Amino acid sequence: MSRLKNDTFLRALLRQPTEYTPVWLMRQAGRYLPEYCETRKRAGSFLQLCKSPAMACEVTLQPLARYDLDAAILFSDILTVPDAMGLGLYFAEGEGPRFERPLKDEWEIRNLSAPDPHAELQYVMDAVSEIRRALDGSVPLIGFSGSPWTLACYMVEGGSSSDYRKVKSLAYNRPDLMHHILDVTAQAVVKYLNAQIEAGAQAVMVFDSWGGVLSEAAYREFSLRYLEQVVSGLIRERDGQRVPSIVFTKGGGLWLESIAAIGSDAVGLDWTMDIGRARQLVGDKVALQGNLDPNVLFAPPETVAAETRRVLDSFGNHPGHVFNLGHGISQFSPPDNVTVLVDTVHEHSRKLRAQG
Ligand code: CP3
Repeated sequence: MSRLKNDTFLRALLRQPTEYTPVWLMRQAGRYLPEYCETRKRAGSFLQLCKSPAMACEVTLQPLARYDLDAAILFSDILTVPDAMGLGLYFAEGEGPRFERPLKDEWEIRNLSAPDPHAELQYVMDAVSEIRRALDGSVPLIGFSGSPWTLACYMVEGGSSSDYRKVKSLAYNRPDLMHHILDVTAQAVVKYLNAQIEAGAQAVMVFDSWGGVLSEAAYREFSLRYLEQVVSGLIRERDGQRVPSIVFTKGGGLWLESIAAIGSDAVGLDWTMDIGRARQLVGDKVALQGNLDPNVLFAPPETVAAETRRVLDSFGNHPGHVFNLGHGISQFSPPDNVTVLVDTVHEHSRKLRAQG
């Protein structure tokens, strides 16, 4: 039951041929769009926006109304999971996310349990079903979660961090406790993503935003191993359709081949590695998603178009590319440059196909 008017994104993730390269942008619904800021104001706060399925649906659709995007992504946040685990998420004005009760003591860690997605996180599942209804088969809907390591960083640090001192201290002093957090969180992520798939998510992405701050050995032990556990637990097919998965470790370029081996359908790339070289390294193992530097959007439109073509040319005319930025779009990006980016991806990739 495909029934999608545009399933280019899903086919590219499965490395099937497509007429052009599909594109969506991490954080495509967000503060660079004035209509987002308006809805957020009406909601009262970012968290209230996430917790209202009707408003989450509204902002999910906003970038699709402006741009010819090939996928929608659920509007939510990775930190809803630790919030549901009882840590008390809040956003201090201008300071980013914070937890009222970060993990400090051994008993708090031992008491952690994976939340039931149909209890504390039902609002996310309601948003997924509402968005699917509103999309009406136009483009696929992506569900997402943070990776166990990235969620653990926030849970132990209590918010964003510049040096990851607390979480790395725990990892090196009490690896047993660190593994306990990661194991419970991995179970939570599997349940959460599978509930999103059951509610209607047609692909899922795992954001390992802070995997790249680890040494190679620590990355394998504390991040990659749990990414693999998550990917192995995912529902692979729903209503006769494959539900592809994407794993994105920011700063993971050095470990690309190991990441490509854990069983996900696609790997997200940040902007640091040339995507053509990345393709040579992974071969036919996985599709690649990326990888324009988000700061290119601050250049004049001609440069945006040229840098976009550079990424497409470097990947070349092969199946298995989903165009994206190498990280989330900045809130200061000029919205008109996104039009240039999206249209260039479509036009230039059609040209590459025609050239053979
Ligand atoms: O891509 C999308 O459009 C879907 C929505 C989405 C948000 N956060 C909305 C959001 C997604 C996929 C995320 C993931 C997320 N959240 C990540 C992983 C991706 C990445 O960026 O590495 C991380 C690390 C978070 C945690 C988080 N949430 C931070 C650090 C912040 C503050 C940073 C900032 O830009 O202010 C948030 C808040 C947040 N999440 C906003 C949005 C649109 C801004 C909140 C606002 O409206 O004030």
